[in-house]
Amino acid sequence: MSISGEAWERLTSWLPTNQDPERPQMQVATVTPDGRPDVRTVLLTEFSPEGFWFHTDSRSRKAAQLQASSAVALVVLWPGFTRQLSVQGEAAVASREEIAAAYARRSDFLKQLAWQNTHDFAQLPQAERVARWQVFAEHGDASRQPPTWTGYLVRPHRLTFWEGGVDTASLRTEFTATASGWEQSYLAG
Ligand SMILES: Cc1cc2nc3c(=O)[nH]c(=O)nc-3n(C[C@H](O)[C@H](O)[C@H](O)COP(=O)(O)O)c2cc1C
Repeated sequence: MSISGEAWERLTSWLPTNQDPERPQMQVATVTPDGRPDVRTVLLTEFSPEGFWFHTDSRSRKAAQLQASSAVALVVLWPGFTRQLSVQGEAAVASREEIAAAYARRSDFLKQLAWQNTHDFAQLPQAERVARWQVFAEHGDASRQPPTWTGYLVRPHRLTFWEGGVDTASLRTEFTATASGWEQSYLAG
């Protein structure tokens, strides 16, 4: 269900716009095939009433885990210490167009990272890693996207906005998707 009403208003007032070059960091929790939680930080690439996008390498652990189970939880701490957004939802591979557009918007550094952040590269001695990075920066072509570049859209079914304050108790405002729309409730922080 697309995010609407008060939940959407909160999102747009809490998070920086998709055009803001300073991207929020987001923890993405996934489930391993043997039922264990796994978590890592990514950048929130963009959001819309459809949900939240992040981008990664299709050979990564998170990609394998998402193929086996689409269940995810996200946490965005933005700005630090006073506001936390927690999301429960389902992740699906983003559209080819969205993935390409997100790649095109990346900085030159992040484009090169998408090419060179590989298992083989990680095995090299540090001096060799620095040297190969330099060679790619000078002679490589990172303008086209690597075949392993991918992205996910997380469609939420629960959004929890946590607010901390200095003059009262922290508070969570929660929106849960129901058959009749987004149901709002307040929870202790
Ligand atoms: C601040 C920060 C931002 C990161 N952003 C991304 C990102 O946008 N995409 C990504 O694939 N990895 C990103 N990483 C690296 C991931 O945390 C993680 O190490 C990597 O994606 C491999 O995760 P996996 O083995 O669980 O798939 C970021 C790490 C940090 C510390």
